[in-house]
Amino acid sequence: MMLPRILLMLSLLVLGVFGLRVPRSPDKKVKDIFPDLLDAGTDELMKGLKQKHFTSVDLVKAYLRRIQEVQSQLHVVTEINPDAISIAQTLDAERAHGKLRSALHGLPMLVKDNIATNDKMNNSAGSFALLGAKVPRDSTVVAKLKAAGVIIIGKSSMSEWANFRSGFDNSCNGWSAHGGQVLGAYAADQDPSGSSSGSAVGASLGLAFAALGTETSASIIFPGSVNNAVGIKPTVGLTSRALVIPVSERQDTVGPLARTVTDAAHVLNIIAGKDPSDSYTNAQPFSQPPDYTKYLKKNFLEGKRIGIPRNAFLPIGDSNIDAPILATFEAAIKELKVAGAIIIDNANFSQWEEYYNSSVTFYGAVNLVVAIDFITNLPQYFAKLTTNPNDITSLSALRDFTQHNPHENYPTRDTAVFDAALTVTGDNTAPGFQAFADQTHAWGTYGGVTGALDTYRLDALVMPSMYAPGVPALAGLPIVTVPMGKYPAGTQVQRLGPCGLVAVAPNVPIGLSFLGAAWSEEELIGCAFAYEQRTLVRDKVRPIVMPTSQLEDVVGH
Ligand SMILES: *[C@@H]1O[C@H](CO)[C@@H](O)[C@H](O)[C@H]1NC(C)=O
Ligand SMILES: *[C@@H]1O[C@H](CO)[C@@H](O)[C@H](O)[C@H]1NC(C)=O
Ligand SMILES: *[C@@H]1O[C@H](CO)[C@@H](O)[C@H](O)[C@H]1NC(C)=O
Repeated sequence: MMLPRILLMLSLLVLGVFGLRVPRSPDKKVKDIFPDLLDAGTDELMKGLKQKHFTSVDLVKAYLRRIQEVQSQLHVVTEINPDAISIAQTLDAERAHGKLRSALHGLPMLVKDNIATNDKMNNSAGSFALLGAKVPRDSTVVAKLKAAGVIIIGKSSMSEWANFRSGFDNSCNGWSAHGGQVLGAYAADQDPSGSSSGSAVGASLGLAFAALGTETSASIIFPGSVNNAVGIKPTVGLTSRALVIPVSERQDTVGPLARTVTDAAHVLNIIAGKDPSDSYTNAQPFSQPPDYTKYLKKNFLEGKRIGIPRNAFLPIGDSNIDAPILATFEAAIKELKVAGAIIIDNANFSQWEEYYNSSVTFYGAVNLVVAIDFITNLPQYFAKLTTNPNDITSLSALRDFTQHNPHENYPTRDTAVFDAALTVTGDNTAPGFQAFADQTHAWGTYGGVTGALDTYRLDALVMPSMYAPGVPALAGLPIVTVPMGKYPAGTQVQRLGPCGLVAVAPNVPIGLSFLGAAWSEEELIGCAFAYEQRTLVRDKVRPIVMPTSQLEDVVGH
């Protein structure tokens, strides 16, 4: 854990971005010229670049200072891009010559440490097993971002192997050997949730314009929810997974974490689309994905039929945890009604109980399908590496490495998920496997989301985000989470899980999720935007760890 931190500090020194922390100037004129990076979105940043108030180099320097301010406390990134400044210089020069590659030309983003970049940065899933490994090219989503003029400023830290290494009683959200322990910024010692922990924290604190995360089940929606961020979990196949470290080809998807629905929609516009290197993208029902920013309409909820699948709510049974979630949810439902939505309560999932019963045992179909995909898909990723420093080509070799490399903190942190997956024989083409996959798909569709949409003739479903991801995951269906509220003053602080992180405390954010049919992202984005603009919840929930570096601290210095 020491080594990456030292490297990070060295890189920051080389880039010359250390310096005094200057508090935010109250001067209104300065604010008009330099938007507050805690909240600045696409429009303000692009306007400032256009009007030459600042450059992309300034933006990179300011975001790097913000990362440096919080890194020793929150461990948000595993690495920063040593070439970020020179990439920004190139994009500034293009802008000066009138060339703009996209609506996000020259904006810096973080990408999760399981999404490969073919540059000096590692793609490790948080593990020492892949440090020094090389990929033949950028992941397709990163290639699209780069082609659009987005600067990849660093890799955001994650739960190691996307929470697919250690057992439930032994796995800590946001911990990885390479990245250390990511913490949330809304309460002391806050559990950042996972596995896209650093992406959500980084987006939320304005450590970059936005971030990419990945989700197999919950990994964008949960951290988005508890970090006061917007997260889009796209339909599996809307965004390419080529050169993204896999868990399950049936469930994995890459999507944005951002501060606003608008920013997230802009990112999705860039990364969505077909890719010959990911056959699932052939299922897209359009030749080009829609322009998602066209659905950012304040009146979008008028006349929409929105269902609540009450029987799929998963309260823990502790009112200190459950009651604020349910109370903020009921307030959100009132807002949706005032916005003109028609609410259909008890639009239940018909096979919820079958799904739930299966999900709570490792050898139930729900976990078995993901495990068989994992043992099949992970070696396929290893096989694509052009440099594989530890010669790891299988899950059993990875387990062996993890149990013997001192950085991997074994056996304090076990390999229970690897162990369980390795008891499964065959691969995901084995006879008999398809029946399990068909079963879980049916629980997600007919017995779940699409069944409820059809039965009650709905445009979308809503749920508290902490209850939402399980059923859509089974069939690769989309979700958008948006800030809904926070735990109130007086909430009893609760440390949960093996690392004793604070999962529940005053000020911990709570999200609202919109769920829908495959390829219905524009519908969910429209609903989430209309709700966000009515309520502006994000602005009312403020972090307790606040980076102070701003553009005015770097412009002209
Ligand atoms: C990637 O990992 C290698 C091996 O640990 C290290 O030498 C290199 O500095 C890392 N890259 C970055 C950008 O930190
Ligand atoms: C839906 O689920 C809720 C919560 O379990 C239950 O109270 C309600 O009766 C169910 N409604 C229907 C129509 O199934
Ligand atoms: C789910 O499990 C519970 C508890 O074991 C059982 O009572 C119930 O019948 C099961 N439901 C289904 C649909 O299998």
